[in-house]
Amino acid sequence: MLVLGIETSCDETSAALVDGTGILSNIITTQDVHQKYGGVVPEFASRAHMRQLLTVIGAALQEAQRALTDIEALAVTRGPGLAGSLLVGLSVCKGIALALKKPWIGINHIEGHILATAETSDTACHPYICLVASGGHTLLVHVKKPLQYKIVGRTIDDAAGEAFDKVAKILGLGYPGGPRVEQSAKGGNPSAISFPRALMESDSLDFSFSGLKTAVLYHVQNLNPEVAEQQTPHIAAGFQQAVVDVLIEKSLRALRRFNCRHLVLAGGVVRNTPLRTAFQQTCRRHDITLSMPAPELCTDNAAMIARAGRMRLLRGQVSSLSLDAMPNLSL
Ligand code: KG4
Ligand code: ZN
Repeated sequence: MLVLGIETSCDETSAALVDGTGILSNIITTQDVHQKYGGVVPEFASRAHMRQLLTVIGAALQEAQRALTDIEALAVTRGPGLAGSLLVGLSVCKGIALALKKPWIGINHIEGHILATAETSDTACHPYICLVASGGHTLLVHVKKPLQYKIVGRTIDDAAGEAFDKVAKILGLGYPGGPRVEQSAKGGNPSAISFPRALMESDSLDFSFSGLKTAVLYHVQNLNPEVAEQQTPHIAAGFQQAVVDVLIEKSLRALRRFNCRHLVLAGGVVRNTPLRTAFQQTCRRHDITLSMPAPELCTDNAAMIARAGRMRLLRGQVSSLSLDAMPNLSL
Protein backbone atom coordinates (compact mmCIF):
# COMPACT_ATOMS: atom_id res chain seq x y z
CA MET A 1 0.00 0.00 0.00
CA LEU A 2 1.55 3.33 -1.10
CA VAL A 3 0.71 5.89 1.60
CA LEU A 4 1.25 9.66 1.42
CA GLY A 5 1.91 11.05 4.92
CA ILE A 6 1.45 14.73 5.81
CA GLU A 7 2.71 16.38 9.02
CA THR A 8 2.11 20.06 9.86
CA SER A 9 1.47 20.05 13.63
CA CYS A 10 4.11 22.61 14.58
CA ASP A 11 6.92 24.29 12.61
CA GLU A 12 8.01 21.48 10.29
CA THR A 13 6.23 21.08 6.96
CA SER A 14 6.68 17.47 5.92
CA ALA A 15 5.42 14.96 3.36
CA ALA A 16 6.51 11.35 2.91
CA LEU A 17 5.80 8.31 0.79
CA VAL A 18 5.82 4.94 2.49
CA ASP A 19 5.36 1.60 0.74
CA GLY A 20 5.09 -1.39 3.05
CA THR A 21 7.52 -0.69 5.89
CA GLY A 22 9.94 1.06 3.51
CA ILE A 23 10.29 4.84 3.34
CA LEU A 24 10.54 6.02 -0.29
CA SER A 25 10.85 9.71 0.61
CA ASN A 26 10.55 11.93 3.68
CA ILE A 27 10.83 15.66 2.89
CA ILE A 28 11.06 17.97 5.93
CA THR A 29 11.32 21.75 5.70
CA THR A 30 12.02 23.69 8.86
CA GLN A 31 10.62 27.21 9.17
CA ASP A 32 13.44 29.67 9.83
CA VAL A 33 11.00 32.54 10.44
CA HIS A 34 10.69 31.60 14.15
CA GLN A 35 14.39 31.84 14.97
CA LYS A 36 14.48 35.54 15.70
CA TYR A 37 11.55 35.19 18.13
CA GLY A 38 13.24 32.38 20.11
CA GLY A 39 10.19 30.11 19.73
CA VAL A 40 7.38 29.12 17.37
CA VAL A 41 4.91 31.91 16.42
CA PRO A 42 1.64 30.04 15.59
CA GLU A 43 0.35 32.53 13.00
CA PHE A 44 3.64 32.46 11.06
CA ALA A 45 3.73 28.67 11.28
CA SER A 46 0.34 28.19 9.58
CA ARG A 47 1.19 30.73 6.88
CA ALA A 48 4.47 28.97 6.15
CA HIS A 49 2.68 25.59 5.92
CA MET A 50 0.25 27.17 3.42
CA ARG A 51 3.13 28.39 1.28
CA GLN A 52 5.23 25.22 1.45
CA LEU A 53 3.01 22.16 1.75
CA LEU A 54 2.12 21.56 -1.93
CA THR A 55 5.76 22.03 -2.96
CA VAL A 56 6.87 19.62 -0.22
CA ILE A 57 4.32 17.00 -1.39
CA GLY A 58 5.59 17.48 -4.98
CA ALA A 59 9.17 16.96 -3.79
CA ALA A 60 8.18 13.80 -1.88
CA LEU A 61 6.54 12.36 -5.03
CA GLN A 62 9.52 13.29 -7.17
CA GLU A 63 12.07 11.75 -4.80
CA ALA A 64 10.01 8.55 -4.61
CA GLN A 65 9.58 8.62 -8.43
CA ARG A 66 5.84 8.22 -8.08
CA ALA A 67 2.89 10.18 -9.53
CA LEU A 68 0.04 11.64 -7.46
CA THR A 69 -2.28 9.04 -9.03
CA ASP A 70 -0.09 6.18 -7.68
CA ILE A 71 -1.10 7.05 -4.10
CA GLU A 72 -3.36 4.40 -2.59
CA ALA A 73 -4.13 6.06 0.77
CA LEU A 74 -3.25 9.15 2.85
CA ALA A 75 -2.43 9.82 6.52
CA VAL A 76 -2.29 13.21 8.22
CA THR A 77 -1.65 14.52 11.74
CA ARG A 78 -4.92 15.66 13.35
CA GLY A 79 -3.48 16.61 16.77
CA PRO A 80 -2.06 17.47 19.20
CA GLY A 81 -0.46 20.62 17.82
CA LEU A 82 -1.14 24.21 16.77
CA ALA A 83 -4.75 24.57 15.55
CA GLY A 84 -4.00 26.67 12.45
CA SER A 85 -1.05 24.49 11.44
CA LEU A 86 -3.02 21.24 11.84
CA LEU A 87 -5.87 22.65 9.73
CA VAL A 88 -3.56 23.31 6.77
CA GLY A 89 -2.38 19.67 6.66
CA LEU A 90 -5.84 18.27 7.30
CA SER A 91 -7.50 20.39 4.59
CA VAL A 92 -4.88 19.54 1.96
CA CYS A 93 -5.15 15.84 2.86
CA LYS A 94 -8.94 15.88 2.57
CA GLY A 95 -8.71 17.71 -0.79
CA ILE A 96 -6.27 15.20 -2.31
CA ALA A 97 -8.21 12.20 -0.92
CA LEU A 98 -11.45 13.58 -2.35
CA ALA A 99 -9.92 14.26 -5.77
CA LEU A 100 -8.24 10.83 -5.96
CA LYS A 101 -11.19 9.01 -4.32
CA LYS A 102 -8.76 7.30 -1.93
CA PRO A 103 -9.11 6.43 1.78
CA TRP A 104 -7.37 8.58 4.36
CA ILE A 105 -6.89 8.65 8.11
CA GLY A 106 -6.23 11.30 10.78
CA ILE A 107 -3.38 10.30 13.10
CA ASN A 108 -2.40 11.25 16.64
CA HIS A 109 1.03 12.91 16.43
CA ILE A 110 2.27 11.07 19.56
CA GLU A 111 1.27 7.74 18.03
CA GLY A 112 3.28 8.77 14.96
CA HIS A 113 6.38 9.24 17.15
CA ILE A 114 5.81 5.85 18.83
CA LEU A 115 5.52 4.09 15.45
CA ALA A 116 8.48 5.86 13.78
CA THR A 117 10.68 2.74 13.84
CA ALA A 118 9.91 -0.11 11.44
CA GLU A 119 10.14 -2.61 14.33
CA THR A 120 6.93 -1.29 15.94
CA SER A 121 4.90 -2.41 12.86
CA ASP A 122 5.76 -5.98 13.80
CA THR A 123 3.51 -7.77 16.30
CA ALA A 124 6.59 -9.73 17.47
CA CYS A 125 8.02 -6.72 19.32
CA HIS A 126 4.97 -6.47 21.63
CA PRO A 127 4.62 -5.95 24.52
CA TYR A 128 7.02 -3.03 24.79
CA ILE A 129 7.59 0.16 26.75
CA CYS A 130 7.94 3.36 24.70
CA LEU A 131 9.66 6.44 26.10
CA VAL A 132 8.37 9.50 24.23
CA ALA A 133 10.65 12.49 24.85
CA SER A 134 9.74 15.46 22.66
CA GLY A 135 9.26 19.21 22.93
CA GLY A 136 5.63 18.86 23.98
CA HIS A 137 5.54 15.49 25.79
CA THR A 138 7.48 13.18 28.05
CA LEU A 139 5.63 9.91 28.49
CA LEU A 140 6.18 6.27 29.33
CA VAL A 141 3.73 4.17 27.36
CA HIS A 142 2.99 0.47 27.83
CA VAL A 143 2.12 -1.01 24.42
CA LYS A 144 0.73 -4.49 25.07
CA LYS A 145 -0.75 -5.04 21.62
CA PRO A 146 -0.47 -3.12 18.32
CA LEU A 147 -2.20 0.29 18.57
CA GLN A 148 -3.19 -0.16 22.25
CA TYR A 149 -1.54 2.44 24.45
CA LYS A 150 -1.55 2.85 28.21
CA ILE A 151 0.27 5.87 29.61
CA VAL A 152 2.08 4.70 32.76
CA GLY A 153 4.26 7.76 33.44
CA ARG A 154 4.28 11.40 32.37
CA THR A 155 5.89 14.73 33.18
CA ILE A 156 4.12 16.73 35.85
CA ASP A 157 5.55 20.01 34.46
CA ASP A 158 7.98 20.64 31.57
CA ALA A 159 8.66 18.10 28.81
CA ALA A 160 12.29 16.97 28.40
CA GLY A 161 12.68 18.83 25.07
CA GLU A 162 11.10 21.94 26.59
CA ALA A 163 13.73 21.79 29.36
CA PHE A 164 16.50 21.62 26.72
CA ASP A 165 14.97 24.63 24.95
CA LYS A 166 14.63 26.67 28.18
CA VAL A 167 18.14 25.83 29.38
CA ALA A 168 19.52 26.83 25.95
CA LYS A 169 17.80 30.20 26.43
CA ILE A 170 19.22 30.62 29.96
CA LEU A 171 22.71 29.82 28.64
CA GLY A 172 22.27 32.21 25.68
CA LEU A 173 22.71 29.39 23.15
CA GLY A 174 19.65 30.30 21.05
CA TYR A 175 16.92 28.28 19.33
CA PRO A 176 16.33 25.40 18.70
CA GLY A 177 17.76 24.52 22.08
CA GLY A 178 18.27 20.75 22.05
CA PRO A 179 21.00 20.52 19.39
CA ARG A 180 22.73 23.66 20.75
CA VAL A 181 22.91 22.30 24.31
CA GLU A 182 24.28 19.03 22.92
CA GLN A 183 26.90 20.91 20.89
CA SER A 184 27.98 23.04 23.86
CA ALA A 185 28.08 19.99 26.18
CA LYS A 186 30.70 18.36 23.94
CA GLY A 187 33.31 20.67 25.46
CA GLY A 188 32.15 20.13 29.05
CA ASN A 189 32.54 17.66 31.89
CA PRO A 190 29.15 16.12 32.85
CA SER A 191 30.35 15.53 36.42
CA ALA A 192 31.73 19.05 37.01
CA ILE A 193 28.37 20.36 38.28
CA SER A 194 25.74 18.08 39.76
CA PHE A 195 22.16 19.10 39.04
CA PRO A 196 19.11 17.57 40.79
CA ARG A 197 17.27 14.49 39.55
CA ALA A 198 13.58 14.78 40.52
CA LEU A 199 10.97 12.18 41.55
CA MET A 200 13.52 9.41 42.03
CA GLU A 201 11.58 7.70 44.86
CA SER A 202 11.24 4.06 43.90
CA ASP A 203 7.53 3.88 43.03
CA SER A 204 7.32 6.87 40.65
CA LEU A 205 7.20 6.60 36.87
CA ASP A 206 6.51 10.33 36.47
CA PHE A 207 8.99 13.03 35.46
CA SER A 208 9.64 16.60 36.55
CA PHE A 209 12.11 18.86 34.73
CA SER A 210 11.14 22.34 35.91
CA GLY A 211 13.23 22.12 39.12
CA LEU A 212 16.26 21.10 37.06
CA LYS A 213 15.77 24.09 34.77
CA THR A 214 15.45 26.41 37.80
CA ALA A 215 18.61 24.90 39.33
CA VAL A 216 20.47 25.78 36.11
CA LEU A 217 19.02 29.31 36.24
CA TYR A 218 20.13 29.86 39.89
CA HIS A 219 23.56 28.42 39.13
CA VAL A 220 24.01 30.86 36.21
CA GLN A 221 22.68 33.85 38.21
CA ASN A 222 25.19 33.18 41.01
CA LEU A 223 28.18 33.05 38.67
CA ASN A 224 30.70 35.81 38.24
CA PRO A 225 30.04 37.05 34.64
CA GLU A 226 33.74 36.61 33.82
CA VAL A 227 33.67 32.87 34.46
CA ALA A 228 30.08 32.30 33.26
CA GLU A 229 31.05 31.83 29.62
CA GLN A 230 33.82 29.34 30.39
CA GLN A 231 31.41 27.37 32.54
CA THR A 232 28.69 27.08 29.85
CA PRO A 233 29.89 23.72 28.42
CA HIS A 234 30.08 22.22 31.95
CA ILE A 235 26.56 23.47 32.78
CA ALA A 236 25.21 22.13 29.47
CA ALA A 237 26.92 18.76 30.06
CA GLY A 238 25.73 18.53 33.70
CA PHE A 239 22.16 19.37 32.70
CA GLN A 240 22.16 16.91 29.79
CA GLN A 241 23.53 14.15 32.05
CA ALA A 242 20.77 14.78 34.61
CA VAL A 243 18.05 14.46 31.93
CA VAL A 244 19.59 11.29 30.47
CA ASP A 245 20.00 9.68 33.93
CA VAL A 246 16.34 10.27 34.81
CA LEU A 247 15.03 9.06 31.44
CA ILE A 248 17.09 5.84 31.71
CA GLU A 249 16.17 5.13 35.35
CA LYS A 250 12.43 5.58 34.75
CA SER A 251 12.46 3.53 31.53
CA LEU A 252 14.16 0.62 33.33
CA ARG A 253 11.59 0.89 36.11
CA ALA A 254 8.68 0.73 33.66
CA LEU A 255 10.24 -2.26 31.88
CA ARG A 256 10.55 -4.09 35.22
CA ARG A 257 7.10 -3.13 36.43
CA PHE A 258 5.31 -4.30 33.27
CA ASN A 259 7.58 -7.25 32.65
CA CYS A 260 8.77 -6.05 29.22
CA ARG A 261 12.09 -6.87 27.52
CA HIS A 262 11.73 -4.39 24.64
CA LEU A 263 12.24 -0.62 24.88
CA VAL A 264 11.31 1.79 22.09
CA LEU A 265 12.56 5.39 22.13
CA ALA A 266 10.67 8.19 20.37
CA GLY A 267 10.59 11.99 20.00
CA GLY A 268 12.96 14.82 19.18
CA VAL A 269 15.15 14.47 22.29
CA VAL A 270 16.16 10.99 21.06
CA ARG A 271 18.31 12.74 18.42
CA ASN A 272 20.72 13.47 21.27
CA THR A 273 23.87 11.39 20.68
CA PRO A 274 25.03 10.99 24.33
CA LEU A 275 21.46 9.90 25.19
CA ARG A 276 21.45 7.31 22.39
CA THR A 277 24.83 5.94 23.49
CA ALA A 278 23.81 5.78 27.16
CA PHE A 279 20.57 3.90 26.33
CA GLN A 280 22.45 1.48 24.07
CA GLN A 281 24.97 0.69 26.81
CA THR A 282 22.32 0.34 29.52
CA CYS A 283 20.05 -1.91 27.44
CA ARG A 284 23.00 -4.14 26.49
CA ARG A 285 23.88 -4.50 30.19
CA HIS A 286 20.29 -5.38 31.14
CA ASP A 287 19.65 -7.63 28.13
CA ILE A 288 16.85 -5.37 26.86
CA THR A 289 16.09 -5.09 23.14
CA LEU A 290 16.28 -1.42 22.13
CA SER A 291 14.63 0.23 19.10
CA MET A 292 15.50 3.82 18.22
CA PRO A 293 14.41 5.74 15.13
CA ALA A 294 17.17 7.06 12.84
CA PRO A 295 17.90 10.66 13.95
CA GLU A 296 15.83 12.23 11.14
CA LEU A 297 12.81 10.10 12.20
CA CYS A 298 13.02 11.31 15.84
CA THR A 299 12.01 14.93 15.24
CA ASP A 300 8.72 15.77 13.51
CA ASN A 301 8.40 14.14 10.09
CA ALA A 302 5.68 12.74 7.84
CA ALA A 303 7.15 9.22 7.43
CA MET A 304 6.18 8.39 11.02
CA ILE A 305 2.61 9.61 10.30
CA ALA A 306 2.46 7.52 7.10
CA ARG A 307 3.72 4.45 9.03
CA ALA A 308 1.09 4.90 11.75
CA GLY A 309 -1.57 5.52 9.10
CA ARG A 310 -0.59 2.37 7.22
CA MET A 311 -0.95 0.26 10.37
CA ARG A 312 -4.45 1.60 11.00
CA LEU A 313 -5.56 1.53 7.34
CA LEU A 314 -4.44 -2.11 7.04
CA ARG A 315 -6.81 -2.85 9.94
CA GLY A 316 -9.67 -1.30 7.99
CA GLN A 317 -9.79 2.05 9.80
CA VAL A 318 -10.54 5.23 7.80
CA SER A 319 -11.57 8.81 8.60
CA SER A 320 -14.48 10.76 7.19
CA LEU A 321 -14.53 14.34 5.88
CA SER A 322 -16.16 15.53 9.12
CA LEU A 323 -12.97 14.76 11.12
CA ASP A 324 -11.68 17.95 12.74
CA ALA A 325 -8.25 19.06 13.99
CA MET A 326 -7.79 18.43 17.74
CA PRO A 327 -5.09 20.73 19.21
CA ASN A 328 -5.29 19.02 22.63
CA LEU A 329 -5.72 15.43 21.46
CA SER A 330 -4.29 12.95 23.98
CA LEU A 331 -2.94 9.49 23.25
O1 KG4 B 1 9.40 15.56 18.55
P1 KG4 B 1 9.74 16.96 18.23
O2 KG4 B 1 10.36 17.26 16.89
O3 KG4 B 1 8.53 17.92 18.38
C1 KG4 B 1 7.49 17.72 19.30
O4 KG4 B 1 6.58 16.90 19.02
O5 KG4 B 1 7.57 18.38 20.36
O6 KG4 B 1 10.75 17.42 19.39
C2 KG4 B 1 11.33 18.68 19.41
C3 KG4 B 1 12.17 18.77 20.66
C4 KG4 B 1 12.69 20.17 20.94
O7 KG4 B 1 12.39 20.51 22.26
C5 KG4 B 1 14.17 20.05 20.70
O8 KG4 B 1 14.95 20.92 21.50
C6 KG4 B 1 14.44 18.60 21.06
O9 KG4 B 1 13.33 17.91 20.56
N1 KG4 B 1 15.69 18.14 20.42
C7 KG4 B 1 16.77 17.75 21.10
C8 KG4 B 1 17.77 17.47 20.14
N2 KG4 B 1 17.24 17.68 18.90
C9 KG4 B 1 15.95 18.09 19.09
N3 KG4 B 1 17.00 17.64 22.41
C10 KG4 B 1 18.22 17.24 22.82
N4 KG4 B 1 19.24 16.97 21.97
C11 KG4 B 1 19.06 17.07 20.63
N5 KG4 B 1 20.06 16.81 19.78
ZN1 ZN C 1 6.62 15.75 17.61
